[in-house]
Amino acid sequence: MHIKALKWFCLWLTMVPLASHLEAKVTKSVFGSMPDGTKVEIYTLEDGALKARIMTYGARVVSLEVPDRTGKVADIVLGYDSLDGYLSDPKSYFGAIVGRYGNRIANATFSLDGKRYHLPVNDGPNTLHGGLVGFDKLVWKGEEIPNGVQLTLVSKDGDQGFPGTLTARVRYTLEPHALRIEYIATTDKDTVLNLTNHSYFNLAGEGHGTILNHVVTIPADRYTPVNATLIPTGQLAPVAGTPLDFHQPTPIGARINDDNEQLRLARGYDHNFVLNGKTSIMQVAASVKEPTTGRVLTVETTQPGVQFYSGNFLDGTLHGKKGHVYVQHAGLCLETQHFPDSPNHPQFPTAELKPNQTYHEVTVFKFSTAP
Ligand code: GLA
Repeated sequence: MHIKALKWFCLWLTMVPLASHLEAKVTKSVFGSMPDGTKVEIYTLEDGALKARIMTYGARVVSLEVPDRTGKVADIVLGYDSLDGYLSDPKSYFGAIVGRYGNRIANATFSLDGKRYHLPVNDGPNTLHGGLVGFDKLVWKGEEIPNGVQLTLVSKDGDQGFPGTLTARVRYTLEPHALRIEYIATTDKDTVLNLTNHSYFNLAGEGHGTILNHVVTIPADRYTPVNATLIPTGQLAPVAGTPLDFHQPTPIGARINDDNEQLRLARGYDHNFVLNGKTSIMQVAASVKEPTTGRVLTVETTQPGVQFYSGNFLDGTLHGKKGHVYVQHAGLCLETQHFPDSPNHPQFPTAELKPNQTYHEVTVFKFSTAP
């Protein structure tokens, strides 16, 4: 071969693998229509064996295909095959971005700048995941960005009782072996905000039994204990000596039925862990390994907490993808977040957002395999 041609060939050879990692493929189609006729779009993101489908209703992760240790791909998030499934299930929040305030606000009320705000009551006496029509139940505006999709929602001043018109942007992008979620928001009046993703993972594949064999590690020294309606008592209690100590990798099922008041109140794990590191700096929040397939999920975040929820309220009445019955503990959530009910606990990291500030948080779900 001519020396110049050889040089070009060698250069091309080095660029091929590089190029295939530079850009994820993004395609868009219609997933369904809302009762009022609004179209719901779904974006498919593909990078090698990793494939994520994200829809504009609730900015939800609809499916997430990940290879196991043999390269076999499975969809590892719970959900439905059609939009109707999601519309007829107001309580599970499968794959959704929850907001304006993820998790609970005690007695559906809080004070900000000396003014008391009242929110819808939708969970015992409390507000859960932003109220009756939270961000999970709204159609976001989708737009393709490099390696993914950006979803935008404008929540008006007074929406579900919260002050300030809030503009929220969530960017889902694929990185090699990872799904990255970036949250950006601004407001025109002081408000409170807590956005998170509510995907239910089953690393054996959705519909494949329970997550009780999944081995969890959470490098957190403390958690926020809850009362009978799952509102934090305000303490930051040590996990040491309790079934909430996940410093050592431990199967979820090993201690979930222990004689422990916190587990009894929540019917399993449904607790916010206080991450040890500095807020705003990426740190590992949790990792989960499924022993039969070898799939490993590592969650990294800039957020101060992670709600580890073991799917306690699933009860076998929901029929998800391919008609799979979602029994109790069919999936687990790792909701990186500010602490529940922060607006009523001034000692917790503040969840307030002011007009001169930009809310910016990042969470990355990384996938690998173990022998
Ligand atoms: C969160 C809460 C749980 C439950 C689920 C939705 O994880 O902490 O108590 O409400 O959402 O079912």
